[in-house]
Amino acid sequence: MTISRVVVDLGERSYPVLIGHGAVSEINSVLPKTAKRAVIITQKNINFTVKPDVPCFTVLIGDGEQHKSLQTIEFVSQKFAEFGLTREDVVIGLGGGMVTDVAGYAAASWHRGTAVVHVATSLVGMVDAAIGGKTGVNTGAGKNLIGAFWQPRGVICDLDALSTLPANEMRCGLGEVAKYHFLSGDDLLKLEMPERVARCVKIKAEIVSSDEREGGRRALLNYGHTLGHALERSSDFSLAHGEAVAIGMVFAAHLARVMGRIDQARVDQHYKVIGEVYGLKVKPENKVDRAELIRLMRGDKKAVSGLTFVLDGRSGIETVKDVSEAQLHQAFDAMQLEEK
Ligand code: GLY
Repeated sequence: MTISRVVVDLGERSYPVLIGHGAVSEINSVLPKTAKRAVIITQKNINFTVKPDVPCFTVLIGDGEQHKSLQTIEFVSQKFAEFGLTREDVVIGLGGGMVTDVAGYAAASWHRGTAVVHVATSLVGMVDAAIGGKTGVNTGAGKNLIGAFWQPRGVICDLDALSTLPANEMRCGLGEVAKYHFLSGDDLLKLEMPERVARCVKIKAEIVSSDEREGGRRALLNYGHTLGHALERSSDFSLAHGEAVAIGMVFAAHLARVMGRIDQARVDQHYKVIGEVYGLKVKPENKVDRAELIRLMRGDKKAVSGLTFVLDGRSGIETVKDVSEAQLHQAFDAMQLEEK
């Protein structure tokens, strides 16, 4: 059993990400020494278990983005109180990105900061959501608008959990893996799954270590996410996150082309990598409401002024501010996104 270890280097808040088949057996090594009890936050459909050497209390939260809410945080916090969770104890988020975002935010808020450990069970969770300390919930105005940066004490990526995943969840994870393909230029699909996950974790760990609070470089991890989040919202989350990000990257390529940042060959490469190599959808199945998408994109957290995108260019992928609506329409046209 080979378990690789990638460290997210944040000084005294550094922590390990343990990756491999059977990695969950190492759970005790990442729990704080002070923890006398743990609350495990998970969902009914997570077919994966964790058994730390401290008394545990399991809290089930609902499935689906509508449950990623302040009401869920309140519910979970009541359970913390019932179990007598103190700030020396630990919260364990066991599940995909939705679970680890909620568990992280509940832990960040409980007694103004209680330790959290994530056991990621989805590919999206392993390569992205569980790492880097972004936690939070949605509001009616947008995804993840309420939250906190709260780094976990450790992250477990047990690849055995992936065999429990439905096919659409795996596709969803591949959308995020494809993002790392464009950020790093690496052919990640050539690697076996343990090395592929470890490589994605290393890329993310390095970016987070250099810009924990997203003052600059970390925003690159949002490649494809501006339209991606808007598509997720406008489809009432029937389009999964990774699938939406994949389409968002194709859109970002068209937008970069419209703005003269890349040539058509690079746009074609996006289609090839996302559509052919990763086998993901390159446009939504249904017609779209462009005005609604633009409204949602304006509410994106990156948008401190006007419409902000992460776009490819001659000097690599970077944040581009003040994109005009006319340019967005040109990109929609180039992508042949039909209006509802
Ligand atoms: N998921 C993007 C980030 O962690 O910054």
